[in-house]
Amino acid sequence: MARGRSFDVRDLRLARAGRDRIEWAKKEMPVLRSIGKRFAKEKPLKGARVSACLHVTTETAALMQVLAAGGAKVALCASNPLSTQDDAAAALVANDGIFVYATKGENRKTYYTHILQALSLKPHVTMDDGADLVSVIHTKRKEYLKHVVGGTEETTTGVIRLRAMAEKGVLRYPIVAVNEAKTKHLFDNRYGTGQSTIDGILRATNRLLAGSCFVVAGYGWCGRGLAMRARGMGARVLITEVDPLPALEAVMDGFEVAPMSEAAVRGDVFCTLTGNIQVLRGEHFRRMKDGAIVCNSGHFNVEIDIPALAKMARSVRTVRPFVEEYRMRDGRAIHVLAEGRLINLAAAEGHPATVMDMSFANQALGVEFLVRKREALANKVYPIPEEIDREIARLKLAAIGTRIDRLTRDQKKYLASWEMGT
Ligand SMILES: NC(=O)c1ccc[n+]([C@@H]2O[C@H](COP(=O)([O-])OP(=O)(O)OC[C@H]3O[C@@H](n4cnc5c(N)ncnc54)[C@H](O)[C@@H]3O)[C@@H](O)[C@H]2O)c1
Repeated sequence: MARGRSFDVRDLRLARAGRDRIEWAKKEMPVLRSIGKRFAKEKPLKGARVSACLHVTTETAALMQVLAAGGAKVALCASNPLSTQDDAAAALVANDGIFVYATKGENRKTYYTHILQALSLKPHVTMDDGADLVSVIHTKRKEYLKHVVGGTEETTTGVIRLRAMAEKGVLRYPIVAVNEAKTKHLFDNRYGTGQSTIDGILRATNRLLAGSCFVVAGYGWCGRGLAMRARGMGARVLITEVDPLPALEAVMDGFEVAPMSEAAVRGDVFCTLTGNIQVLRGEHFRRMKDGAIVCNSGHFNVEIDIPALAKMARSVRTVRPFVEEYRMRDGRAIHVLAEGRLINLAAAEGHPATVMDMSFANQALGVEFLVRKREALANKVYPIPEEIDREIARLKLAAIGTRIDRLTRDQKKYLASWEMGT
């Protein structure tokens, strides 16, 4: 492991391969590239220190380069112990002067040590995916809070945690909720998670999905995407929900909806994407078929109650990379993928660059917004300003060569009036 005061990555010799793969990702990131060009000219982040806790992938590497081009000093650690791409981490250290602390497969202790190392930059801005870094700075490095002007948050679970902090009055700086941008969750959570979760399951298992019963727990943005793609692969998709609205939407989208107690008996493959705990638990494992495959694409590894499964099993063994077989006392096998961690990032490469282009455009512009507006913001969670969201959509459409209509003068007037009826 290449370990230095200012970095901790697997092997710096992976930097060349990392650089090539980062270049590959950047080809599909035209919006972020255009922001990078402007940042290089205007240097809006000059003098700013940014500590980021994100999945260390090639797309994240592209974002780190854009922040550095804007004049920021950047430290990066992983937001999940299994999601780091070691070659991308090495390339950022070797070629871009980013302080990276991340190795794929790091244990819990190293994961938190890396967060502390990324925070040792004494950031002005934090970037988070799941709010672990914000949580550490608020509990273990309170002395650094005085430097911070604001932070960004990438995902649904992080936004929920940060809103809880704001409500309890313990959040000490403003947060921009990147996840709430339409150009983030409509594309990243839906199409990104939909495709990459299937990719992770297939890379881990090489199973045929056609004809199988595929259970999707949670019909939120991620669940909608996964259900749509699993159906496209020929699976019979069964949805479980706790909220009547998305459950009804799933029914009208043509899916069968059932409680997990029923789905547990019928499912061949299960995937949780709820942001909740113990969605699959003892009472469900007890009813599953021999050979059932169980995985998670929600943020934390708490959606599947693996400790309960371990207690119920008589043995556990790894049967393929990312596949653990829990042999139950009655002889059935239940297969857990990637230790219940994000399957799309652990066993595959996360979302394709095309969607991360928009998510990370929001991140880059979110940081610029925080640095510019630092005086005007309270210690609350803010949505991404609508003009940033629209600008990103406009740039993406332009980059893919899609043109749209403009409102005529009469249409604008009509939409702003109430007098005209039938
Ligand atoms: N894998 C990835 O790359 C990726 C990408 C984006 C978000 N995420 C994470 O995925 C999770 C879901 O995100 P989202 O944007 O879809 O959230 P969302 O809020 O849009 O949807 C979550 C859904 O789960 C449902 N739910 C909650 N508890 C449930 C239970 N016990 N059983 C069944 N359904 C339940 C909720 O009613 C809701 O409809 C979050 O943890 C988020 O951070 C992962």
